[in-house]
Amino acid sequence: MPFDPQAPDLKVAVVGTGAMGRGIAQIAAQSGCTVLLFDAQPEAAAKAREALQHTFETLAAKGKLTADAAAAAADRLRVEHDLGGLAPAEVVVEAIVEDLDVKRRLFRELEDIVPADAVLASNTSSLSITAIATACRRPERVAGLHFFNPVPLMKVAEVIDGLRSDRAVGDTLMALVRRFGHQPVRALDTPGFIVNHAGRGYNTEALKLLGEGVAGVQAIDEILREQAGFRMGPFELMDLTGLDVSQPVMESIYRQFYDEPRYRPSALAALRRTGGLLGRKTGEGFYRYDGGQQAREAPVAAPAARPHSVWVADLLPDWAEQARQLAASLGAAVEHTAVPSEQALIVVTPCGEDVSFVCTRHGWDARRTVGLDMLVPQAKRRTVVLNPLTQPGHRDAAAGLFGADGVPVSLVRDSVGLVAQRVLACVVNIGCDIAQQGIATPADIDLAVQLGLGYPRGPLAWGDALGPRRLLAILEHMTAITGDPRYRPSPWLRRRAHLGVSLTTPEPAL
Ligand SMILES: NC(=O)c1ccc[n+]([C@@H]2O[C@H](COP(=O)([O-])OP(=O)(O)OC[C@H]3O[C@@H](n4cnc5c(N)ncnc54)[C@H](O)[C@@H]3O)[C@@H](O)[C@H]2O)c1
Repeated sequence: MPFDPQAPDLKVAVVGTGAMGRGIAQIAAQSGCTVLLFDAQPEAAAKAREALQHTFETLAAKGKLTADAAAAAADRLRVEHDLGGLAPAEVVVEAIVEDLDVKRRLFRELEDIVPADAVLASNTSSLSITAIATACRRPERVAGLHFFNPVPLMKVAEVIDGLRSDRAVGDTLMALVRRFGHQPVRALDTPGFIVNHAGRGYNTEALKLLGEGVAGVQAIDEILREQAGFRMGPFELMDLTGLDVSQPVMESIYRQFYDEPRYRPSALAALRRTGGLLGRKTGEGFYRYDGGQQAREAPVAAPAARPHSVWVADLLPDWAEQARQLAASLGAAVEHTAVPSEQALIVVTPCGEDVSFVCTRHGWDARRTVGLDMLVPQAKRRTVVLNPLTQPGHRDAAAGLFGADGVPVSLVRDSVGLVAQRVLACVVNIGCDIAQQGIATPADIDLAVQLGLGYPRGPLAWGDALGPRRLLAILEHMTAITGDPRYRPSPWLRRRAHLGVSLTTPEPAL
């Protein structure tokens, strides 16, 4: 073991005392470590210490720390005015500017200062640990230790093994993260590691839906929150993070994976970033903000119109039956005939296909056909999909019927995979491919995504809940109709769906 992660007097150096360095120093000091703080900006480390002292006092005032523990944590913070002061450190956590050359220079300098067996860890989000380590004579002692912002509240850290990292270094960092009160997950050195890689499915697919004109920003956010079950809509999230941060991440991960179509970013986001529509920080992003308040369109009341009768196509028997029961429970006369009557509203429940495709294939009258997304049937919102020929009367009748019980209805234009299906299938598919590439174990992928992205479940557990076979069908149909390899199913998902086993099933030992 390179150092004893439980040693009461463990000395941790934090280089770079900005947003991340401060947070890391806080949890290290609270766990009893002595923390050596260094920053290239004069006074920055001293200011960080002052701010942390204030944080500890506030925590004590709120009863989250005893006064003694707060004073002891503050006492463990030591400001160093030159890099040489870090000589006693057993582990260094670097949280400086995200620039490969600058980080490499620092790591090279640190090697001559700290003990020969000290561990050098980088908090980089987007740079390769292997690339940073090549600057060192002993690359085996370099690893990634990636926390999330704000560090004390985001209770997960990725421990990243570079190509030359000694496994024991990562093992020790895993134990150190636990000592800090966080949950460690282990990842291979690949673009985005786990969390920033897994996050590609959400924003990029929402931007693609927006770019295709399927629905507006607010409607997509509402569907993904209230029907799919995400805590925050993708556009609200991008506005919060700022496109100056999230757009380069989308671009960088796509490029680092050699233009993998699954991660292809949207030209819409690049243009908005260029135009300065960054989000909350500039007062306008995908939404406008007046005094910090997000401007929203008022909800539209469900129309009073109702269909003469409803005929539900038997595309998938279980979804069709659920749609029939729903329509009947909302007061519709449901036809149980082989073909629809002349006056019936035709309801289809596509699985990855678009409404136009299924109408044409089966010869149904597109003018009176709408789609209904049944992937998450018991949701707080319903999505009704119009095809280019849907007549306004049938549109209003469908919106009136499916909103008759007060559940809000989103009307969207035709789209492969509709909205919720498409985004959920992409999120699960990318999670599966992270497992297929052996970047992390299924358990770590799920844990990292839940804690790092705030999804209600990890992508593999979520995929299991939605049904791997159904998700596979959604992805296969989207791939067949669009010809876009973006939607091709990961072999991990395909095999487990065919075998009828959980998406968390690991690969066999050889
Ligand atoms: N902010 C986030 O959300 C976030 C999340 C995870 C990881 N990260 C990563 O953490 C690192 C730091 O990010 P941050 O947001 O804390 O940045 P920041 O700009 O808030 O702080 C960086 C600090 O490093 C100092 N610094 C720059 N070059 C230095 C050098 N050569 N030697 C010593 N100090 C130097 C700066 O003076 C500054 O105080 C980056 O690698 C970033 O990618 C950031």
